[in-house]
Amino acid sequence: MPLILETVVTTLSPAGDLHLVPFGLIREGDAYILAPFRPSPTIVNLEANPYFAASSPRDIRVIAGAVTGRRDWPVVECEAIPAKRLADSFGHAEFAVEAVEEDATRPRFRGRLVKATAHEPFIGYNRAQAAVLEAAILSTRLHMLTPDKILTEMAYLAIAISKTAGPREREAWDWIEDKIASALGRSERILANPGAAP
Ligand SMILES: Cc1cc2nc3c(=O)[nH]c(=O)nc-3n(C[C@H](O)[C@H](O)[C@H](O)COP(=O)(O)O)c2cc1C
Repeated sequence: MPLILETVVTTLSPAGDLHLVPFGLIREGDAYILAPFRPSPTIVNLEANPYFAASSPRDIRVIAGAVTGRRDWPVVECEAIPAKRLADSFGHAEFAVEAVEEDATRPRFRGRLVKATAHEPFIGYNRAQAAVLEAAILSTRLHMLTPDKILTEMAYLAIAISKTAGPREREAWDWIEDKIASALGRSERILANPGAAP
């Protein structure tokens, strides 16, 4: 299995509008592959502007927000490519698309690393941030999973939230919980009873 890094990817639309979404970047040798499922605004953008930035947000709400309709996070200009990147990140990388593997379901855009910069010290991993990341991914796959599977996974992830979340992680978790509850037509929340089987 290749290494996959979960990042916040920013692209520009043909009209120059920012598009900010989480993506797993697949490491392949010196390059990183971006593989969006069709249909995808990111694909449209990369076909018009073959550059993307990948950022590691300090605030996990950026990832939870991006999958719950909150995509308005501050960005700044990239230094080496005509693109923008997340302003508040541990670091970011700037890529130029050097090749495209066409595919009816999931084309692969091969990104050549143009520049990578560290911005803030990374002091340590946080379990609640990792749990929000997993919950965010889960929330983009609700159409493929049974309610039982979703609730079982969320109940496990909630343990890390209850033990290690700060206010931002807690708020990010609540956004995902709300999305999942509304998709499943539930009114109760999992975190009230973390670890309990559904
Ligand atoms: C951490 C994380 C990683 C993700 N990785 C991918 C990915 O590699 N490919 C993909 O199609 N969607 C991925 N998703 C879901 C996308 O963020 C979501 O579907 C988004 O709308 C895709 O952008 P697009 O609409 O421009 O295609 C990921 C979501 C999260 C939270």
